Parts: sequence; C-alpha cells; structure tokens
Amino acid sequence: MTTPKTPVADTGTATPVSDNPAAADFAAAYPVRPVPAPGPVDTAPIATTPAALEDLDGLWRAVVHETRTRGNDIHLPISLAFAERLCRAHPEADAELVRVATLLHDTGWAHVDESRIISEGFTGDWRKATIRYEHEKQGCDVARRVLPGLGYSTDFIERVCAIIDGHDTRPVAHSLEDALMRDADRLWRFDQAGIALASSWFKMDPATYTDRLATEIVPELITQAAHDMATADLNRSTALLKTAVIR
Ligand SMILES: [Fe+2]
Ligand SMILES: [Fe+2]
Repeated sequence: MTTPKTPVADTGTATPVSDNPAAADFAAAYPVRPVPAPGPVDTAPIATTPAALEDLDGLWRAVVHETRTRGNDIHLPISLAFAERLCRAHPEADAELVRVATLLHDTGWAHVDESRIISEGFTGDWRKATIRYEHEKQGCDVARRVLPGLGYSTDFIERVCAIIDGHDTRPVAHSLEDALMRDADRLWRFDQAGIALASSWFKMDPATYTDRLATEIVPELITQAAHDMATADLNRSTALLKTAVIR
C-alpha cells in the first residue's frame, strides 16, 4: 500500500539576508536552498534509527533533571536521533557539535517559570516571547555547568552555546552545524510522537496541527535532507492519524 501524499508548502529557496557576519558567511558558503545533502538521506521512521552512539550517555545523565520539563525526555532524544541522521547526510559538519547542541538546546526550559511555558511560550507571537529568550540563556548556563566536567574544552562549549543562544528567536542560522540543530529541532514534530505532544501544547487537534506543519514548518527547514525526512514523516503520520477524515 502506498502512503497518500500530504501537500506541503515550498521550502524557502531564497538565501536569507542578515547583517550578522557569521550568517552572511554561512549564506555565502551555502547559496543553494534548501542545502543539498552530500551524504545518504534516510527517510524511514525515526524509531528505526535511535540515537545510537553511547558517548553522550554521561551527558544525558547530567541533565536528567532538565529532561523532566516540557516533554524534553521525549523531544530531546528524538531530536538527537534526527540530528545524527542529518549529520550522516552532511558528513562535512562537525557532528559532535551538532549532537551536543541538540541534546542540550532546550534544557533551559527546566530553569524558567514553568507556569509561563505554555501561557507565553506557545501562544500569540510565541517565537518572540520573553520566556523563549530566557530558556535559551538558561540552556547556555546548563551547558557551561555540565560540559566542563565531562571533558569538553572551553572553545567547544562556547560553540555549543552560540548555537543554543537564539535557536528559537534568531531568524537565521550562523553555520551548517547551527542549521542542522535547527532542522533536527523541527523534524521531531513530524513524527507521530511529536504530533501527539506538540499539538496539545498549541491546543490544536492533530489535523490542524499537521496542516500547520505542512504550511509553516516545512518552509523553515534549511536542508534538503530535513525536507525529505519531514515530508516522508508527515505523509505517514497524517495517514496513520486519519487527519483527512478526522477534522
Ligand atoms: Fe527551544
Ligand atoms: Fe526544541
């Protein structure tokens, strides 16, 4: 049986303009959007390739407390699995940087006022909500607290923080590694687990939420690999959840 295709909006093809030097360098280095993948692109369900490497187990243990807020114990492992997949599609990227930044990027949610996460972080102009800036800053604090004891260098930790800081609120990516973390952060939403969890945050039914993924989130994806993974997942998830009928 073939899975019906869900119509999606075009991925953005224009290279974003920014007066930030790092963003300008990234845009110049990767002028084709979405960024083509030099390596293999796996579009199978993410459950078939969990985050496999055990070298981050010590880091997971250091942030168990931070995974217990805002579904991070679902969001972060699935996003890490997508990050590892994206790194296989982009072997030119610093995979360790992408993986550590993805694992830690939302740990700051555990250190902001939890009552404001849903009330401010997922309603209205949620991308610009003050609490979103706070969770980015707090995430950098977590990184600077836990990474030195695990042997990471100061330079590496600051590169991790440069990605975490602004991952939701900064409009453009500053490097390929930044772009891959951003795409991994979005890809988990297309999996059925992400739809189940995130649709409730936005107080949307699954049909409305998957419509929004197709029209608003797909165009935000930076790499072709992420676009291919997202559309494959969206087709599977909408068929499974019968969103064409239950609406
Ligand atoms: Fe975030
Ligand atoms: Fe996230």
